[in-house]
Amino acid sequence: MENQQKLIHTFGALAELGNEVAHKQNFQEMMRTSLHLLLGSLAIMRGGVARYSRFAHELNMLTMRGLGDEFPLGLSLCYEDERQFLVNGLFPIEVSQAGVLPFFQVYDRSFETKKIELLVPLVVRDELVGVIFLGEKANSQPFTSYDKEIICAMARHIGVAIVQRNLMAELERRAEENRKLYDNLKMTYKDTVKAFAAAIDCKDKYTEGHSVRVGKYSEIIAEELGWSEEETEGAAVAGYLHDVGKLTVERNIINAPYRINAKESAELNKHPAVGYEILLPIHHPFADVPLAAKYHHERLDGNGYPDGLYDREIPYIAKLVNLADSFDAMTTDRPYKRRRPTNEVVEDLQRNSGKQFAPELVTALCRGMLKELTSETKSKRFRRLLGRDYMEAEGIVPLLKNALNGMSATSSLTLVSLD
Ligand SMILES: [Fe+2]
Ligand SMILES: [Fe+2]
Repeated sequence: MENQQKLIHTFGALAELGNEVAHKQNFQEMMRTSLHLLLGSLAIMRGGVARYSRFAHELNMLTMRGLGDEFPLGLSLCYEDERQFLVNGLFPIEVSQAGVLPFFQVYDRSFETKKIELLVPLVVRDELVGVIFLGEKANSQPFTSYDKEIICAMARHIGVAIVQRNLMAELERRAEENRKLYDNLKMTYKDTVKAFAAAIDCKDKYTEGHSVRVGKYSEIIAEELGWSEEETEGAAVAGYLHDVGKLTVERNIINAPYRINAKESAELNKHPAVGYEILLPIHHPFADVPLAAKYHHERLDGNGYPDGLYDREIPYIAKLVNLADSFDAMTTDRPYKRRRPTNEVVEDLQRNSGKQFAPELVTALCRGMLKELTSETKSKRFRRLLGRDYMEAEGIVPLLKNALNGMSATSSLTLVSLD
């Protein structure tokens, strides 16, 4: 009868331990409860659970009960200790027979003062993951083989929990490492893109900084559209690289201080297709950068090039870059043309909304400007790129407000004119 009750009690404790191992998030807390359950189920006075670090060859106490402050928190093991533990497996080792273990000779005194009677190596899948130290029983009776079996079963649970924790820690470490690698890669990508943009702009001395500005305007438009950080970054990259095809166009055509003739123009107009070819083999993480390059001179009304696509046929990212590109063309001096005054630019955007540009993109760009001028954002990007006087031209705020009111209800599709 007494044995039966003991059995029921033990099963209860084991089930509870299994539960602990499966559910507790806090590893330290789980180890503490597990030790208490183990000690409680066999009425053991004191004990501790240590995790083994294979790299440091050290046992580190995870939790202790009744062992006091003097008990060592870290115990060094040598190769022979580890080997003996592995050979022994999960079964408890009587301290009286542990004299052969080199580490035991070092910590002998601590074990003796605390009346440690059993050492239980936690061996899981042929690996030593920890050791449980157990003191004497409350009734000072020796451990029976039945007790040892229970200890063995509970130790297995604790050992598995430690292995799980080790795996989790390893996973977390790798995830962190991957994140750092990814960040590095992202940074390298961004730097490369910017270097490329600078290289493109170098060739074109009259429109110095054009690619960089188009990258920045694209970024602002994407932000105003509420795109995610990564999508916005993609839009910026598409802007930075949209004219990469110009790298293969002759310098004197790009830099011609006059309106170029038809032949030269045909040569220049190859740059979207060339850009597409250049960008296609590169893996771009956030946006279809090659398509942006290929179609950044298309217009909603089908009057663009190279393919004369209509509204919905044009990739959205290309529409976005087209607006950023045109905005920069209007707002910077060209060899044969001075830049347009700010109010004319806004009117032009408004007029061409639905013809060349997607209305919601124009709205986004105008809203970006208005927010900066009315200090709704701290950003000074437009002023920095275009000059304070130019951006703060008289009457520009009401003009922008008016433009925004007029365009808000429109959609690109309703405004397409096909005639
Ligand atoms: Fe272009
Ligand atoms: Fe351009």
